[in-house]
Amino acid sequence: MAEPSYLRLGVNIDHVATLRNARGGVHPDPVDAAAIAIAAGADGITAHLREDRRHIRDEDVARLMRSITVPLNLEIAATAEMVAIARATRPHACCVVPERRQERTTEGGLDVIANRAVVTAAVRDLTQAGIRVSLFVAAAPAQIEAAAESGAAVVELHTGAWCDALAGGQRERAAAEWSLIVAGAALARQRGLEVHAGHGLDYRTAGAIAALAEIVELNIGHFLVGEALAEGLGGSVRKMRAAMAAGRGEVR
Ligand code: PXP
Repeated sequence: MAEPSYLRLGVNIDHVATLRNARGGVHPDPVDAAAIAIAAGADGITAHLREDRRHIRDEDVARLMRSITVPLNLEIAATAEMVAIARATRPHACCVVPERRQERTTEGGLDVIANRAVVTAAVRDLTQAGIRVSLFVAAAPAQIEAAAESGAAVVELHTGAWCDALAGGQRERAAAEWSLIVAGAALARQRGLEVHAGHGLDYRTAGAIAALAEIVELNIGHFLVGEALAEGLGGSVRKMRAAMAAGRGEVR
């Protein structure tokens, strides 16, 4: 068992941009959200620049690089376009993810075995530019071995299947997925990789996975942005009532 160390939180702000883009304007601003997350204790900011730019856009990445005070972890597909953008932008880290246009979110891990040449070249090109490279993989031993052979410094274990099984009450499947994550984290560490995890995490699952000492970073997005409504909608409604009352000249 590895020594427990500090567990970093990377806050993924993609879905603040999703909300902004739903109206086509500038509000809410993912860069403002990054500042709030940092002030609240985020150790890093994660943003996924997708081929279709459905949430984060190129100018968001440029603004994040200019303004945030913690490391940026840029998620990209292993395409020539994305590797060139990353090399020009030089974020602290890049997490290489699989990407399909039709998917709603990153549905599975990167198939490092089937895409060995492309992934290894992306790892090399990004690493040469001084970027720390992570591969987003399912907790499958063969994928972790292939990730280690690719030269990547980090693997991020895909926790989506485990979280989905728990949320769906599939206890046996959840237990099997959890066993894979536990074994995968240990194997990755043995192979000299830094181990991160993410996808679908909420308070309960983040609390559970935090017990695995091999894992040093969690990347969490959708749940935090959704949960911000519960934490913050009351405050924005109260501010709106006050603005309306002030506009009417009401004495409150
Ligand atoms: N890690 C990676 C590599 C991802 O692609 C995503 C989703 O963009 C996350 C973590 C965060 O997942 P979620 O938004 O479900 O917390």
